[in-house]
Amino acid sequence: MADGLRKGLASYGDPGFSLFLRKVFIKAMGYSDDALNRPIVGITNTYSDYNPCHGNAPQIIEAVKRGVMLSGAMPMVFPTISIAESFSHPTSMYLRNLMAMDTEEMIRAQPMDAVVVIGGCDKTLPAQIMAAVSADLPTVVIPVGPMVVGHHRGEVLGACTDCRRLWGKHRAGEIDDAEIEAVNARLAPSVGTCMVMGTASTMACVTEALGLSLPMSATIPAPHAERFRLAEASGKVAAEMAKAKGPKPSELLTASSFRNAQVVLQAIGGSTNGLIHLTAIANRSPHRIDLEAFDKLGREVPVLIDLKPSGAHYMEHFHHAGGVPKLMAQLGNLIDLDAKTITGEALRQVVARAEEVPGQDVIRSRDNPIKNVGSMAVLHGNLAPRGAVIKQSAATPKLLQHTGRAVVFESVEDMTQRVDDPALEVSADDVLVLRNAGPKGAPGMPEAGYLPIPAKLLRAGVKDMVRISDARMSGTAFGTIVLHITPESAVGGPLALVRTGDMIALDVEKRRIDLLVDAAELERRRAALKPPSADWAKRGYAHLFHETILQADEGCDFDFMRAQGKS
Ligand code: FES
Repeated sequence: MADGLRKGLASYGDPGFSLFLRKVFIKAMGYSDDALNRPIVGITNTYSDYNPCHGNAPQIIEAVKRGVMLSGAMPMVFPTISIAESFSHPTSMYLRNLMAMDTEEMIRAQPMDAVVVIGGCDKTLPAQIMAAVSADLPTVVIPVGPMVVGHHRGEVLGACTDCRRLWGKHRAGEIDDAEIEAVNARLAPSVGTCMVMGTASTMACVTEALGLSLPMSATIPAPHAERFRLAEASGKVAAEMAKAKGPKPSELLTASSFRNAQVVLQAIGGSTNGLIHLTAIANRSPHRIDLEAFDKLGREVPVLIDLKPSGAHYMEHFHHAGGVPKLMAQLGNLIDLDAKTITGEALRQVVARAEEVPGQDVIRSRDNPIKNVGSMAVLHGNLAPRGAVIKQSAATPKLLQHTGRAVVFESVEDMTQRVDDPALEVSADDVLVLRNAGPKGAPGMPEAGYLPIPAKLLRAGVKDMVRISDARMSGTAFGTIVLHITPESAVGGPLALVRTGDMIALDVEKRRIDLLVDAAELERRRAALKPPSADWAKRGYAHLFHETILQADEGCDFDFMRAQGKS
């Protein structure tokens, strides 16, 4: 198969002419024949003025190019879509698959022998890895890295667990307008991704566990010089992969590496979004994420990382304590250390070099965990026939077994309008229910599962309630929150049948979530259900999304993008 500049010629019916023409145009950029005859490393550019998390991408790209050229290959940078969490309407999840398709097709369309994908803000790494697995070209992943922490009145804080916590205090009247404005400028003190164990940090750690990025790449803070040295080293590795034509993702991603990723996801107190993304990545390969097996792992794998929202510290502290290699060392026989990485090394060699940091308390040992069980549990029951997820590590222990009266919100808009209404009949023992917030219903499965505590209860000192929905939740959020109820209500899932006043029973120990209404009554309600309007999905990407989006248990990919295509 052709390589370098000869790869994937544009079709004019004469390959010789196609190459001639390609060289005519690329020489307009001043390249020499020597440069153009080298193996090519493509480098994605997701810098955008709308994506502050990727603010260091230009500097990372420069360092990668340096590494590629030091190793005798030719770097070529190309743009792809960039998705920033807070600048994506309606949600970043709505756009993840678009970014995955864009990235995959640009990798395929342009001549390159290896690719370096640089991402970080929540949906970008999953999109890029989904693309890389489908394109199956040798790939190095570089996360942009986490922000450094902020400080306010002597307190260490950061985006965005503390955004939610302090906004909650503001809503409860504990923080005035002037102070919340001051806090607003201190929560994100540098470029980089959220520095708690949100989705961005989760996926960066999972990527490292999968062997797709260099050791420590998940945790080095975004502004640190070390991040750019790692980028240079990543460029060198990519150049060697371009010359060797491997290893490809299909050679690295085995059943063991996916299991390792799930172990790490549980042990870091990872984001629930991580489970959806890992499922989507696996579905691009011959492997699968089995929810039952994932839940079983959760009973065996303790949370060892003391990071918000499950614990107390931030990503830079995790980094200085030894990062993912040290975590994998602590996990011991829970990790398959024979799994391979992009450098050709096995994880065993990576773990052997893990730094021993005296006195650090961020990465715990298995006999002194943060939580005895993993971060997530998978629930089933008559409310969630195909499953639901709870991040038990960030929940209130006494609410993990709870029966309460449902208070139902029909949609995100309905919840926004009514949740703080003083006339809302609600008590701390009730179960807040949000529906029509799933992959198809909202659309794009917004991170609205962290339903706000009604203002009047907040003022009365209520800090947590059982909240359930078909939505997602930011990895930076916390509370006793059941998410990803599948099937979602918009496609007729049982969540659509709940009425205010029904009783709902949550039992995390038994892995159950049930609506305590008899089957005959539920059938009557089902017969009266009306399908939600799909007027928003008549054309364009919205139409493609509505017609082909899969449910949460299948990773929310488009049905035709899985490895086997449309079934
Ligand atoms: Fe980009 Fe949190 S907003 S990672």
